[in-house]
Amino acid sequence: MQNFTYYTPTEIIFGRGAVKEAGRLAAKWNAKRILIVYGGGSAVRSGLLAVIEEELEAEGIAWETLPGVQPNPRLALAREGVKKAVAFGADLILAVGGGSVIDTAKAVAIGAANPDTDLWDFWTGKVEKPEQVLPVGVVLTIAAAGSETSDSVVLTNEETGTKKGYGGDFVRPKFALINPELAATLPRYQLACGVVDILMHTLERYFTPVDGNRLTDEIAEGLMRTIICEGKKAYDNPSDYDAMSEVMWCGSLSHNGLTGLGRGKDFSCHKLGHKIGGMFDESHGATLSAVWGSWARYVYHQDAARFARYGRKVWGIVSDDSGDEAAALEAIRRTEEFFCSLDMPVCLGQLGMGVQPEEVLWKMAKHATNGGTVKLGSFCPMDAADMVAIYKSANHS
Ligand code: NZQ
Ligand code: ZN
Repeated sequence: MQNFTYYTPTEIIFGRGAVKEAGRLAAKWNAKRILIVYGGGSAVRSGLLAVIEEELEAEGIAWETLPGVQPNPRLALAREGVKKAVAFGADLILAVGGGSVIDTAKAVAIGAANPDTDLWDFWTGKVEKPEQVLPVGVVLTIAAAGSETSDSVVLTNEETGTKKGYGGDFVRPKFALINPELAATLPRYQLACGVVDILMHTLERYFTPVDGNRLTDEIAEGLMRTIICEGKKAYDNPSDYDAMSEVMWCGSLSHNGLTGLGRGKDFSCHKLGHKIGGMFDESHGATLSAVWGSWARYVYHQDAARFARYGRKVWGIVSDDSGDEAAALEAIRRTEEFFCSLDMPVCLGQLGMGVQPEEVLWKMAKHATNGGTVKLGSFCPMDAADMVAIYKSANHS
C-alpha cells in the first residue's frame, strides 16, 4: 500500500429536507453575502432556488445570482462570475446543480479570491496554486461528477476547445446538501450519463499498476456492484427514492478519493472523453461509455488477472478452465452491455459527433498529450499513437 492522505472536509447533509439546512450551513461559515451559481433553469422551474433564497433570507444573508451554466462549463461564464463575486463582495459561493455548476462555482471561488490573476493561468500551470479560495457550498441536483466532494474543477476554454481539469484539496466544498428527491426530475439520458460517470470514477482508480490494497479493492468492488444494480433501478424508475439515494451516495464516495486509497489513479478514459467533450460538446458520461470498451480491449493484456478479478467480484463471472483471459474479456463485454442497457453509447458513431476522419482523432490525441510530449494514465501509459488507436477502435457506428 502506498502512503496516502485522506482529506474529506465536506460536511454532508443527506436526505429529504436537506435543502432546509442551506441558511444554517452558510451562516456556520460566516457567510453574509453569497453568490448563487446555477444552470439553465431546472433549479428555477422546480422551485428549488426559491426555497434556498427563503432559507438565506431567514438567516439575514444577502445574495446575488450567476445563472446560465452550461454542461461542459465555459471559462467565459466563470470569468463573468469572478467579476460579479468581486463586485458584490461575496464571501461564499453556493452551487445549485451538478458537476458543471459546482465546477463553475469552484472556479469563481478561486478567481474571486485572486482577482489579479487570470483564471485560466491556474489551468495552464502558469500559476501553480491560489493564495486563497472562497468557501464553496453545494446543493446537489444530479448524481454524477462527484464534484460535491472532489478536489477537482473541470472547465472548457471555448476559444481553444480545450477541456481541462485543475485542482487540489483547497477546492473541496465545505458542505453539500443532498436530497435524492431532487434528482427525480432529471432527463433519463442525464441520469444514465451520471451512472456511467460514477462507475468510471471507481474503474479509473481500480485499474492501476499497484496491487495489494485489499480494503480499497473491496470498497471499490462494493461501490461498483451497488451503482450497477441501483443505477439501473433508478434509470428504470427515477422516482424510486431508495435507488436514487444509493446512486447519489455512490456518486459522492466514488470521487472523493476513498475508492483509490493507497495507489495512484489512471484516468486515461477521462482524458480521452474530455477531448471529445471539449471539441464536440458531448455529455461527459456519454463520452466515457463511448471509449471505455475500446480502452479496455487495448490495455487488458497488461494485467488480465486484474480484469478477471473485476469480472468475478463485480459481475459474478464464475471461473472455469478458460482462465483469466476469458474472464477479462467477458467482464469487458458485460460492462458494455450494462452501458447499452442504459441506452448509453459504446462507440463514437453513437454520439452526436458521429464517426470522424482520422485527422480529427489525431487532433484530440495531440491535445490530450500536450502536443505528443506526455503520456497519459498509469495502468498502461499511453502516448498520442495509443490514444489514436483507441479512438479508431471506437470510431464506428
Ligand atoms: O442547467 P440545468 O437546467 O440545471 O440542467 C442540467 C444540465 O442540462 C440538468 N440537470 C441537473 N440537475 C437536474 C437537471 N435537470 C432536471 N432536474 C435536475 N434535478 O442536467 C444537465 C447536466 O448537468 P451537468 O452539471 O453538466 O451534469 P454532471 O453533474 O454530469 O456534470 C458534468 C460536468 O462535470 C465534469 C464533467 O467533465 C462535466 O463538465 N466533471 C467534474 C468532476 C469534478 N469536478 O470532480 C469530475 C468528473 O469526472 C467530471 O469531469
Ligand atoms: Zn467523470
